Amino acid sequence: MVKPMLRVGYPAIFATELLADFPREVELIPLPDDLDHEIDIDVWIPIPFPTRASTTWQHLRGVRLVLNLMAGTEWIPSLVGPHVTICNARGAHNISTAEWTISAILAMLKHFPFYLDVQRSGQWKRRFESSANYAHITGDTRTIFPPVLIEELHGKTVLLVGHGAIGQQIEEMLTPFHVNLLRVARTARTEPLVHAVSELDSLLPQAEIVVLILPHTAESHHLINSRQFAQMRQGALLVNAARGPIVDTDALVDALNSGHIRAALDVTDPEPLPQGHPLWSCPNLLLTPHVAGSSPQFAARSLATAAAELRRYLADQPMQNIVQHAV
Ligand SMILES: NC(=O)c1ccc[n+]([C@@H]2O[C@H](COP(=O)([O-])OP(=O)(O)OC[C@H]3O[C@@H](n4cnc5c(N)ncnc54)[C@H](OP(=O)(O)O)[C@@H]3O)[C@@H](O)[C@H]2O)c1
Repeated sequence: MVKPMLRVGYPAIFATELLADFPREVELIPLPDDLDHEIDIDVWIPIPFPTRASTTWQHLRGVRLVLNLMAGTEWIPSLVGPHVTICNARGAHNISTAEWTISAILAMLKHFPFYLDVQRSGQWKRRFESSANYAHITGDTRTIFPPVLIEELHGKTVLLVGHGAIGQQIEEMLTPFHVNLLRVARTARTEPLVHAVSELDSLLPQAEIVVLILPHTAESHHLINSRQFAQMRQGALLVNAARGPIVDTDALVDALNSGHIRAALDVTDPEPLPQGHPLWSCPNLLLTPHVAGSSPQFAARSLATAAAELRRYLADQPMQNIVQHAV
C-alpha cells in the first residue's frame, strides 16, 4: 500500500523558492492568513506572529509536529497542547542577533545615539557634551586629554548571561576586540569556563558590559531586578537581546533614571512598548523594537533548519531542535 504523503502546512506569504530545500516526499500546503475552513495537516510551520498563528491554529486538524521558525517558542505549548512535538529554529538567528549585539555595544560605547542628536541639531561644538556625559555616567571625573568623545571596547570585561547558540556566536564575534569574557549559563562547565547562574550576583560587579542571551522561563523571569542592578558597576552597560521579562522593567527604569547604568534593548516588557511608557524617555538608552533576528537572510536560514529537521523526522532519525516531546 502506498504511504500517504506527509502534509506540511506553511505560511502562504513565503515565496515558494524559499521552500526549495524541503524533501520531495512531502506535500507542501500554503496556509493563508484568512484560512476559513478546517484542514488536515501533519506538520505545521506557523507564521512567526503568535496572534496570527493562533487564528490559523483554530482551523488545523491532525497536527503532530510543529516546526517553529524562531528560537523562542514560549507561546506554542499552551496553544497546541502536550500531544504535539515542537521544534525551534535553533541556530537560524545566531548571526543576525549576534551582529545586533555587537552593533549595540559599539553604538553605545561610541556614543552614537548622542551623536545622532548632534547631527540633527547641526552643531559640531556640541560634541564636547560627550565628555561631560561620560564623566557623569562612569563617575570618572579626572581631567582627561583629549576629552573623552568615545569609549573603547578593547580590554573591557563582558559578562555573557546565556552561552548557547547565540551566546557562543557573540563570543566568536567579540574575540577580535580582545575583551575579557565571563560566561554564565544554567549549569557550570569548563573549557571554556562557564559559571552557574547561581554565581551571577558575584560576577556582576566585575563586568562593564552585561549581555542577556538566554530564554525567558520561570527561572529566568526577572533574573535582573533591583538587587542585580545594585551589584552592577557605575556606568555598566546592560544589553538585552533575549526577552523583555528577564529584566524587571520598573527596576530598569529606576536604574536608568538614577544614572547608575546604561542599556541597549531589543526587547522590552511589555511588548510592544506602549506610547508614553517611561522607558521611551529614559536617559542613556538605545532601544530597538524587537528587530535583532530579522534580516533578509533569516527566512532562508530558518526554513533550511526546518527542512533539515523534517528530513530527520521522515528518516526516523533523532531530531535536533525538540523543545517539547509529544506525550
Ligand atoms: N532579539 C531577538 O530578535 C532574538 C532572536 C533570537 C533569539 N532571541 C532570544 O535569545 C535566546 C537564546 O537563544 P539561543 O539560540 O542562544 O538559545 P540556546 O542555544 O538554547 O541557549 C540558551 C542559553 O541560555 C542558558 N540558560 C537557560 N536558562 C537559563 C537561566 N535560567 N539562567 C541562566 N542561563 C540560562 C542555557 O544554559 P545551558 O547551556 O546550561 O543550558 C544556554 O546557555 C532565545 O531563547 C530567545 O529568547 C532573541
